[in-house]
Amino acid sequence: MTRLPSTLALAGLLLASNVLADGERSARRQYLLHCTGCHQADGRGAPSSDVPDMRSLIGYMAHDPEGRAYLVKVPGVSNSALNHADTARLLNWMLRSFSAATLPAEFAPFTEAEVTRLRAAPLDDVAATRASVIQRLQAQGLPVQ
Ligand code: HEC
Repeated sequence: MTRLPSTLALAGLLLASNVLADGERSARRQYLLHCTGCHQADGRGAPSSDVPDMRSLIGYMAHDPEGRAYLVKVPGVSNSALNHADTARLLNWMLRSFSAATLPAEFAPFTEAEVTRLRAAPLDDVAATRASVIQRLQAQGLPVQ
């Protein structure tokens, strides 16, 4: 009988780790389906064709509220066929997979509610918004170009 609580705790842990692994697997699958065509499997993009290299950069973007909003509102994310919850999961997976080293220490993962709110107001001028985000990051002393 005394073993029951720890057995239950172990079962709970196993279940939680399975759920997490499933979320991660589905985010990865969605990235491969919806994003790799332009961004490549590792996020390096194709800078010569104007698809930016996301590695390191998107982690820095998460340091700034406008950068964080841009990550959701950029057309490839905002206009994708993914629902808001899957989009939040995908962004969190991308940030950790391509940009873990540059994420702020206190990074709060995207939630479905935040994605829903930000997606409701699309960007007028993507290039100008991106340039302004980069400037804000540079003003914070972050090494982005
Ligand atoms: C048709 C090509 C294309 C597809 C498909 C695409 N993107 Fe993009 N993405 C771009 C381009 C080009 C930019 C640069 C900003 C702009 O002009 O939209 C960009 C910018 C971004 C950025 C911001 C990085 C930066 O440096 O500006 C993120 C984050 C992003 N895309 C995520 C995604 C995700 C997630 C998907 C899949 C759901 C996706 N993109 C699908 C072309 C694409």
